[in-house]
Amino acid sequence: MPRLFWKFFRIIWLTLAASLAAIILTVKLLQAVPFASELEHERRTLVLNLTANILAEDGETAAARFVTTSEKTQPLGLTLSKPDEADACAEKNTVTTRSVLKNGVCYRLSVSAPAGSTFDSLGPFLPWLTILVASTIAAGALARYLIRPVVHLRDGLSALAHGRFDFRIGDKMAGRKDEVTALAYDFDASAARLQELQDVQQRLFHDVSHELRSPLSRLQAAVGVLRQSPAKLAAMLDRMDREVERLDTLVGEVLTLARLTAGSSRPLKTQSLDVIELLNEILGDAAFEAQAREVSITASVDGIFRAEVEGELIYRALENVVRNAVKYTAEHSRVAVSCETMADRLRICVTDQGPGVGRDELERIFQPFSRGKDAMPRGGYGLGLAIARQAIERHGGRVHASLPEAGGLAITLELPRRPMPYGAAGGER
Ligand SMILES: Nc1ncnc2c1ncn2[C@@H]1O[C@H](COP(=O)(O)OP(=O)(O)OP(=O)(O)O)[C@@H](O)[C@H]1O
Ligand SMILES: [Mg+2]
Repeated sequence: MPRLFWKFFRIIWLTLAASLAAIILTVKLLQAVPFASELEHERRTLVLNLTANILAEDGETAAARFVTTSEKTQPLGLTLSKPDEADACAEKNTVTTRSVLKNGVCYRLSVSAPAGSTFDSLGPFLPWLTILVASTIAAGALARYLIRPVVHLRDGLSALAHGRFDFRIGDKMAGRKDEVTALAYDFDASAARLQELQDVQQRLFHDVSHELRSPLSRLQAAVGVLRQSPAKLAAMLDRMDREVERLDTLVGEVLTLARLTAGSSRPLKTQSLDVIELLNEILGDAAFEAQAREVSITASVDGIFRAEVEGELIYRALENVVRNAVKYTAEHSRVAVSCETMADRLRICVTDQGPGVGRDELERIFQPFSRGKDAMPRGGYGLGLAIARQAIERHGGRVHASLPEAGGLAITLELPRRPMPYGAAGGER
């Protein structure tokens, strides 16, 4: 049962119990019974009417007997008298008196007025007053309890609407432990995630413009050289070709990354394919590049792993990781690729014998445009691993880097047979 339910239950139950206790106490200690004066009045009226009836029906003796008995059991100051004045019966009946004319004789019945006490005026209202006070306090406490976090939530949402993603409300829920507090922490987590996405996007904008500027300024320089010495036309055209090609590759990679990071709402265009077969094709292509550096690729990738994936994305992820290994491993060294098939997942591990990365860089290398100092001469933009991670995570898998004891770098990719929300399969970084 939710905690909030119990809080409501406790407050309402305590209010009712406190009201009941207050009523009992007031009645017991102060003798302030609700409707006491009305009851007292009714009792007197009843006794007066009864005596008047007996007098009218059965005569004076019966009425006098009734008065004596009634006074013994319930003393109300009931008296029966015969006033001397002749017009006594013409007097109007009051709350405490009755006049009865019987056989030409006028009788007068009277009871004493109810005894007044200190609480007489307040007494009847005390129980209602207690209920009013108790329910006001409880309603106030409940309203305050509910409204305070809602106000914080509203402030938080309005801050988000104004782009202030650093606004947090979790610490304002001091002392509370219920569903509303959980909601506040969920809000904080969402705000933190939005802030992270905004930071990533801003960094990406900055890096993209920075990266675009380099080939553009080289193009500008080539145009300048051409203007000054048209004889260098062929060389400059070659150079311009290379720069345009670089620009084209960069824009392609940035678009892929943007599609992957921003478009998690875009459904994957999946098809059923054998991922191990795809990996073997990539390894075959990489072998050419590896030969040039006298690098050997040893692969133990047999079997079949048919999965529902977006082929293009998985191809780019695997290709980036394998090409990195071939690119960064030492000359005349070995790149090892292994595959492990589990019931619903495929684990691929690519290990090389290169310089590896620092332990503190194991996560950073997956960020866009993060590249080592020797990456630039090799024409890297630092986008490959970012694309690989996003592509695999979109399928519900995960990618991580580790440092094998023998040196080099190992990249492990885990891919589920069917796309699932990231983390649903117990994946954690
Ligand atoms: N196998 C590896 N050995 C050593 N360092 C690596 C390895 N793989 C990646 N790195 C480091 O991580 C950085 C990021 O890799 P990533 O694949 O994202 O970019 P890149 O290879 O430099 O460029 P791109 O893939 O965009 O062409 C690289 O610049 C390199 O410094
Ligand atoms: Mg790369």
